[in-house]
Amino acid sequence: MKLLVTGGAGFIGSNFVRQVLAQHPGDEIVNLDKLTYAGNLENLADLKDNPRHTFVRGDVASSRDVSRVFRAHAFDAVVNFAAESHVDRSLHMGPREFIRTNILGTQLLLDAARKRGVRRFLQVSTDEVYGSLGPEGQFTEQTPLQPNNPYAATKAGADCLVRAAGHSHGLDIVITRCSNNFGPFQFPEKLIPLMIAKALANERLPVYGDGLHVRDWIYVLDHCAGIDVALRQGAAGEVYNIGAGYDVPNLQIVKRILALLDKPESLIEYVKDRPGHDRRYAMDSAKLQRTLGWRPAHPFDDALRATVDWYVQNRAWWERVRSGEYRKAYDTLYGWRDRKAP
Ligand code: NAD
Ligand code: DAU
Repeated sequence: MKLLVTGGAGFIGSNFVRQVLAQHPGDEIVNLDKLTYAGNLENLADLKDNPRHTFVRGDVASSRDVSRVFRAHAFDAVVNFAAESHVDRSLHMGPREFIRTNILGTQLLLDAARKRGVRRFLQVSTDEVYGSLGPEGQFTEQTPLQPNNPYAATKAGADCLVRAAGHSHGLDIVITRCSNNFGPFQFPEKLIPLMIAKALANERLPVYGDGLHVRDWIYVLDHCAGIDVALRQGAAGEVYNIGAGYDVPNLQIVKRILALLDKPESLIEYVKDRPGHDRRYAMDSAKLQRTLGWRPAHPFDDALRATVDWYVQNRAWWERVRSGEYRKAYDTLYGWRDRKAP
């Protein structure tokens, strides 16, 4: 299968590209990524000589970049990871880039996929589109979309456009909605890598509000495995929730990280809450488990320990991406070039 993966230089996308190339020896991937602050070719350094992986620097919200890549390759499927992904940025820096990439970018990809007869379009979405839960219950695929922050609103908008492309134009679409991921190569702005980085530097760990907001955590490779099975075996037009059923308050995660690093809880600092902060997420992924046989394979404690170890061992990586230094360094370090589609 020949795949167009967008956003494959980011956290989840780079883990997905690596996993697909390892598990499907017949597959080829073209990886279209703009390399924003969150996209980093160091995440793919081990693949730079892999003939089944082609990197193209380009913008999903540019019709020129999108049509170039679709003219140059005949894809069997598109897996759309490309997004502005950080809730705090959408709140504090404004939603403009989120609207451009997450909504316009998705529509341009849908149009190109339809025009070129691509067999399947998988949209990588999020549990945030469902809004917030009360003290009981879980999100199912039937839960109405009630996004509460600008990031979530753009992801919900994209989901609606993907659904409409299937309904109106008969494009074969699948949407996956996953809970909070963690693992190697996550940009150190998100809770787990940020807390690890701050604890290692003996800095204050900023916990929003009372720290009792609940997120449902999944190891990134389990998410990637769920996307892969939905891509290959999911039914056209369906939505699949992906979650590992590990829903706990943020404070518990932060305390666990401190314990793993042998740092004191006095480093925790309660700070002003995120505006409109969703109180609780919990995913029901029974549909994916029942119909496609997917199961999370990485117990939370083992995966968190492995992730903390990875950040300890790869301090140079996160210090460099955090400072933006990799932008200057990646060509000389890894011999990468920004390759435009012909
Ligand atoms: P990320 O921010 O780490 O990576 C995003 C990637 O998209 C980067 O490589 C970036 O360069 C690229 N990109 C951004 N704008 C682009 C554009 N205009 N054109 C081309 N590439 C562009 O994000 P992530 O955490 O890996 O998330 C990937 C996807 O998964 C997103 O769609 C996100 O909504 C979804 N998701 C994330 C989580 C999570 O917990 N991180 C959970 C569920 C769903
Ligand atoms: O639920 C899936 C979503 O998970 C994805 O769609 C998003 O792309 C991804 O960024 C993530 O969104 P969150 O807002 O849940 O992730 P974040 O890591 O930013 O925050 C997790 C929780 O931790 C949230 O309740 C806010 C809190 N938090 C976060 C940061 C960065 C803090 O208390 N302190 C912090 O410094």
